[in-house]
Amino acid sequence: IRYIDDLQLTGKRVFIRVDFNVPLEGRRITDDTRIREALPTIRRALEMGGKVILASHLGRPKGADPKLSTVLVAEKLAELLGGKHEVIHADDCVGDNVKKQVNDLKAGQVLLLENLRFHKEEEANDEAFSRELAALADVYVNDAFGTAHRAHASTAGMVPFVKEKAAGLLMRKEIEYLGDKVLRNPQKPFVAILGGSKVSDKIKVIESLLPKVDALLVGGAMAYTFLKAQGIEVGKSRVEEGDKLALAAKLLDTAKRLKTPLVLPIDHIVCADIDGKGPVKETPDQVVPADMMGLDIGPKTRAMYTQRIRDAKTVIWNGPMGRFEVDKFAEGTRSVAAAMSINKDAVTVIGGGDSAAAVEQMGYADKMSHVSTGGGASLEFLEGQPLPGIKALETK
Ligand code: 3PG
Repeated sequence: IRYIDDLQLTGKRVFIRVDFNVPLEGRRITDDTRIREALPTIRRALEMGGKVILASHLGRPKGADPKLSTVLVAEKLAELLGGKHEVIHADDCVGDNVKKQVNDLKAGQVLLLENLRFHKEEEANDEAFSRELAALADVYVNDAFGTAHRAHASTAGMVPFVKEKAAGLLMRKEIEYLGDKVLRNPQKPFVAILGGSKVSDKIKVIESLLPKVDALLVGGAMAYTFLKAQGIEVGKSRVEEGDKLALAAKLLDTAKRLKTPLVLPIDHIVCADIDGKGPVKETPDQVVPADMMGLDIGPKTRAMYTQRIRDAKTVIWNGPMGRFEVDKFAEGTRSVAAAMSINKDAVTVIGGGDSAAAVEQMGYADKMSHVSTGGGASLEFLEGQPLPGIKALETK
């Protein structure tokens, strides 16, 4: 793969695929991390004398939808660039008007295209649409790690039709941390922490990590599927039934065969109500009382996981330890974030999604080596799958 610094950009039209798919509440951007993380590449392209064209999707619109216009992002981006660069918003991503706007671009200006997904051809990875996007560019740069697991026109289809291609600085950072420092050359001891609600979402990640890690610590609702698979009473906890239980049992067997500790919670925070309305208790052991559900890891588990994390040299974490949106059930997630943030000798990586949101919210994000901007993309990357958006950049 080539990176943006390997190219000559002076006077060239540089089409940068970014992931500006930010969370919205009405017209408000509630987390601008993805925009901030794209700034180094945008600034570098401008410094290198390129004419910068930015393209992204936002949400999952069915056709053009003004509520999902990238115009909101254009305002935010102009602000984050400190008012130093004019950010022009194009009201489409293809067509004659856009072509004209691209041709009229002056040094230092940025053109942000309208939501790519207003055209169904984007997700269909349509060839004619890919060629239209490619016609706007002399150089293609992909910095949209968060969308690299999608084979769409802007992430894959258009790439062969542009003369030069490269990865951006965020893409490079994601590949460096998730790829080199975690999957390929982790310093030992290497500890993975997985949480979230479903074992079934994480099967391939577990299978991919088990042979590599020194311990895999489990939390979140998925822990209850593992406990139930071992015949432990889990009360009313959310578990996946049927074949998912068999699957959990199989993963436990695999761990045993590989002699990798797959560590489950030894105590829990429980309540009869998922939102914590009603008495909240700590259990003395792994058993959840019949009328209760497990909603966070308990204090003994927190201490055990903290110790494992503090002894590690590489830590990767994906998925919260409990229902952290409710304060009473946030301590497990907070303790993992805190333990990682304190361990300055380790490479600490947050694998995106809910756990990234949690460390951001709890104020630990800047104390980690890397917080991935991917959700689905980081998971698929950790599964060891080639991502279409990265594959497209590989030079033959
Ligand atoms: C994400 O937020 O995971 C990416 O932006 C991809 O979005 P998608 O799941 O709608 O394809």
